[in-house]
Amino acid sequence: MVQILSGKEVSRKVYSDLIPRIDSLKKQGISPCLAVILIGENPASKIYVRSKTRKFESLGLHSKTIHLEKSIDETELIGNIQSLNNTKDIHGILIQLPLPKQMDELKILQLVSPDKDVDGFHPENVGLLSIGHPRFISCTPKGIMRIFDHYNIDLDGKHVVLLGRSNIVGRPMSLLTGTKKKGANATITVCHSGTKYIPDFTSSADVVISAMGVPEFLKGKMLKKGSVVIDVGINRVEADNEKGYRLVGDADWNSIQENVSAATPVPGGVGPMTIAMLVENTVEAAERNMVNS
Ligand code: GUN
Repeated sequence: MVQILSGKEVSRKVYSDLIPRIDSLKKQGISPCLAVILIGENPASKIYVRSKTRKFESLGLHSKTIHLEKSIDETELIGNIQSLNNTKDIHGILIQLPLPKQMDELKILQLVSPDKDVDGFHPENVGLLSIGHPRFISCTPKGIMRIFDHYNIDLDGKHVVLLGRSNIVGRPMSLLTGTKKKGANATITVCHSGTKYIPDFTSSADVVISAMGVPEFLKGKMLKKGSVVIDVGINRVEADNEKGYRLVGDADWNSIQENVSAATPVPGGVGPMTIAMLVENTVEAAERNMVNS
């Protein structure tokens, strides 16, 4: 039987563990608050932002979405970010990616105060993670590590193959899984658009973490017997239903069953963990802010 690694279930545990921390902050007059900057009209980004802010609402936490036009002047955007940096009641700031093409992503992410960077995208936070002293860890990789921990999947000595080297998933994931810490300490291979033949690597992987965005790319025959698949892909494919589409991962769910021992489904796998870690990081930011103020 293939074990389903349910991010939905793990996220419930995260939220219940956060309740006493949130209560304790509220007793001290602090309500963790996230500010989200959404630029432009990317439909997927709008859906992601809505599900993040809804989760905050459902937990009785505050969030504020600042929706800006794609054509916004850079000085105005900088002003918006600086104003959030200086607002005491805002504990976390998230700039939804991708940004419109004309914008310089690095320049903009660097404007967010590293102490409010709950996405862990500021170079200072990426640097701290890379030297083994993380402050804020980006939400999807952190959530995947929490799934491993919850299901007692110990990566020590394992071969982990990452499909994708993005700053959001692949790169931080390689730092987390490869670090010399309990539950990690894996040997890492990163496959990317320059990799000649991906099955050469996935076939010897104990764990495959895919963040490619290619629907149902990963097939059972590319995997070793007993391997674990973590599927970060959320892809829309045409379907003969009311919506006209269905969501599928990077893995072909039916096909991988022949070889995997455990896998995350899409939806209900990694997605809920990304949001849970965003809430956790925002609570952590509020706690840290309290200690430092
Ligand atoms: N776009 C896709 N994933 C993410 C994420 O985790 N954070 C932000 N800010 N943008 C994203």
